[in-house]
Amino acid sequence: MTKEPKFYHPLPEVIQNATVQEYDKTYQKSISNPEAFWGEQAGNLDWYKKWDQVFDGGDKPFFKWYTGAKTNIIHNAIDRHLKTANRNKLAFMWEGEPGDKRQFSYHDLDNEVSKFANVLKSMGVKQGEIVTIYMPQIPELVFAMLACAKIGAVHSVVYGGFSSEALAGRIQDANSRFLITADGGYRRGKKTDLKSISNAAMLESPSIEACVTVKRTGDDVHMQEGRDFWYHDLVCLPISRGQCETVEMDSEDTLFLLYTSGSTGKPKALVHTHGGYGVYVSTTLRMVFDIKPQDRFWCAADPGWITGHSYIVYGPLILGATVMLYEGAPNFPFPNRWWDMIERYKINILYTSPTAIRGLMRFGENWPKKHDLSSLRLLGSVGEPINPEAWKWYFEHIGQGRCPIMDTWWQTETGGFVITPLPITPLKPGSASKPFFGNEVGVVDEEGNDSKPNEEGSLVIKTPSPGMARTILGDPERYIQTYWKKYEKQGWYHVGDSARKDDDGYYWIIGRSDDVIKVSGYRLGTAEVESALVSHPSVSEAATIALPHEVKGNAIHAYVILRANEKPSEELEVHLKDHVGKVMGPIAKPETLTFVDGLPKTRSGKIMRRVLKARALGQDEGDLSTLED
Ligand code: PRX
Repeated sequence: MTKEPKFYHPLPEVIQNATVQEYDKTYQKSISNPEAFWGEQAGNLDWYKKWDQVFDGGDKPFFKWYTGAKTNIIHNAIDRHLKTANRNKLAFMWEGEPGDKRQFSYHDLDNEVSKFANVLKSMGVKQGEIVTIYMPQIPELVFAMLACAKIGAVHSVVYGGFSSEALAGRIQDANSRFLITADGGYRRGKKTDLKSISNAAMLESPSIEACVTVKRTGDDVHMQEGRDFWYHDLVCLPISRGQCETVEMDSEDTLFLLYTSGSTGKPKALVHTHGGYGVYVSTTLRMVFDIKPQDRFWCAADPGWITGHSYIVYGPLILGATVMLYEGAPNFPFPNRWWDMIERYKINILYTSPTAIRGLMRFGENWPKKHDLSSLRLLGSVGEPINPEAWKWYFEHIGQGRCPIMDTWWQTETGGFVITPLPITPLKPGSASKPFFGNEVGVVDEEGNDSKPNEEGSLVIKTPSPGMARTILGDPERYIQTYWKKYEKQGWYHVGDSARKDDDGYYWIIGRSDDVIKVSGYRLGTAEVESALVSHPSVSEAATIALPHEVKGNAIHAYVILRANEKPSEELEVHLKDHVGKVMGPIAKPETLTFVDGLPKTRSGKIMRRVLKARALGQDEGDLSTLED
């Protein structure tokens, strides 16, 4: 047997071409003077007015970046390209799951965004107000996001796989007057029914005044007179004509909200800004994915998640890149759909999740082997730890031993990559490598002491960065409590992941250390799944835990106590799983559901999920002194 290499070294041509040629010195410089570093990076963007101050740390932890500056992310993502050769360059190449295709140059993108921005303005959408978007992965989703940003409105994209209840909750929290949706989309050969889900959500959401629907599937849908409008009708109206001016915003003005799950309570809306976020996503993308003008970049995430916001939409557009957008499933109609698309579009960089890799790996390497993947230069991974087997398969069969894998660690909260290799980094399969420039991170114990090398601890971010969410919408106290309270003395950001750092200073992410579950890279809270279960009339109490799953990384396992008059049955088990799917969306459906008579609890009544987990895995249950009985 050949011995495994300690490091996978990038090929000389990858190093020669890399945007960043040197890590250690640049990193030291960036953290010894982060303001200088982030000031320099901001200089790569255009501003209506430059900043008075790069960083304002006065009101901890509500940090501000590029204060006094005037900008709009659209000014950098679209407008400035119109004055250069990029104007005629492809911005988006889109393919629908049934195989239909559309392409947009930067000039076309500007036209589309301008038209829809004019429409939104004439409908009465105001600067600063929150517009909810619930769409499949079609170009209009991107137009809608960009149109909101252009007129200074705030977009809140809700992932198209969420249920009507989840959508309604987010519309209500944001108090949205406007919803943008579609009749449906295509996924695994089936049509989704987004408009009916939207209609149900709007019934629960009194704030809604108008809804714009894009026709995608052409299915019959219910349109309510006075409230519902077709997108294609609106963008043909005279009011949509003419260039819509991009509104000048303050650097710190809100660009978008994105809801994400936490340990407790309902999903929270994280707030991201025009200025700092734009600088952060474009800098990280340029340095890590090494985008060259001729590249075709494919981030195969859904634009409805932070990965899509940062690395399908804003980051690549700011860099003037050409982006691939695909509507459907990776294995439709066959498990070679992605490999076929890479060959047909000559994709140079592919960025996806370990779950997708593991899912495609199951079908074997004969599928990618059928295709010419020689256009690929770099690969990426995000969303959950990538196990070394999947890493090596990705490296060998997709990257053909030629393409380094950028295993990027970050969160909805950080806006962009925080721990990540660069193309020049010697790689270790399964490790996200080292912190990106301008970020100091650490692995510490409960008190904040550095964990020993290779010892598991809590991941912290020690320095603020311009891409970090500014607050939680409407609940600044929760923002403090969730992220800044635990290491308040040190002023560090508490991540919620456990990790270890090895002797070479490489970070290995172990997983969430709180009650957040990552299923197929999707982020869910145990509390949300439990409350979905308890909302069923047969259920008295519920507890959920995550257990390892071969493809999904983790799967949800539920333990349910039924009401006194209810009897466990297989039908009820299926029914309750479906109920969770209905309340939250299919991704939240538990893998298994076990009926129990009691749950391990502390004397104060808190469910001890770690005991359930240890039992399920046949491991030592640890300290049980606080267990009730
Ligand atoms: O647990 C980490 C995991 O995903 C969490 C953040 O989830 P979300 O906000 O949905 O953002 C996902 C896309 C950035 C983190 O707390 N995670 C993300 N990337 C990695 C990861 N775990 C291990 N390795 C990664 N590369």
